[in-house]
Amino acid sequence: MTQDDLKRAVAAAALDDIDALLTPDAVIGVGTGSTANHFIDLLATRRQDFRGAVASSEATAERLKSHGIDVLELNHVGTVPVYIDGADEIDRQLRMIKGGGAALTREKIVAACAERFICIADASKSVETLGGFPLPVEVIPMARSYVAREMVKLGITPVYRDGVLTDNGNRILDGYDKLFDDPEGMETTLDGIVGVVTNGLFARRPADVLLLGGDSGVTRFT
Ligand code: 5RP
Repeated sequence: MTQDDLKRAVAAAALDDIDALLTPDAVIGVGTGSTANHFIDLLATRRQDFRGAVASSEATAERLKSHGIDVLELNHVGTVPVYIDGADEIDRQLRMIKGGGAALTREKIVAACAERFICIADASKSVETLGGFPLPVEVIPMARSYVAREMVKLGITPVYRDGVLTDNGNRILDGYDKLFDDPEGMETTLDGIVGVVTNGLFARRPADVLLLGGDSGVTRFT
């Protein structure tokens, strides 16, 4: 199986997993990225069974709409019963690094409003310790150099993601060379730097369920 086959398989497993939640009033939280895109394409086959979706990025909103799925504003919805999204890395405690697609801020907001977070990922995303994947940090543009200097003090090597503007009009610094033994602590520390909008550690609010796709099929972790 290719990595893309595995992504499609976990997306299909997620649709099965949320079957009971697809009711006429239900609004589903939907993530961003190639794995989430497979989920959107499959969710579209059930679009008559639920009310609509909340999107974690403009790209996801466009894809949902292209399938005829209503996209609602989070402020009008409140909480969502479930949020389905991929990850760049996930550990055994279902803590993640996210934001490879630069959508981390809206992803973290929708995840915060979700009663259940289902992470869908191929086996390459599963790690012992987070940090092999560079940690995305979304910053207010004028604070870019300041935040980069603060990251260096924390032992993280920042690299400016040139040419990328987030959906919120901000910039991304990718943090290299640091394994995160205390992801919750580092998530809090990074959030405390003036000019940081969001960092890509999803540790204080980890996933509730991981559907991990490997050659022997999809395994469900909680
Ligand atoms: C986007 C994300 C994605 O979930 C993450 O990058 C995984 O992407 P993919 O499913 O394409 O591997 O956090 O900001």
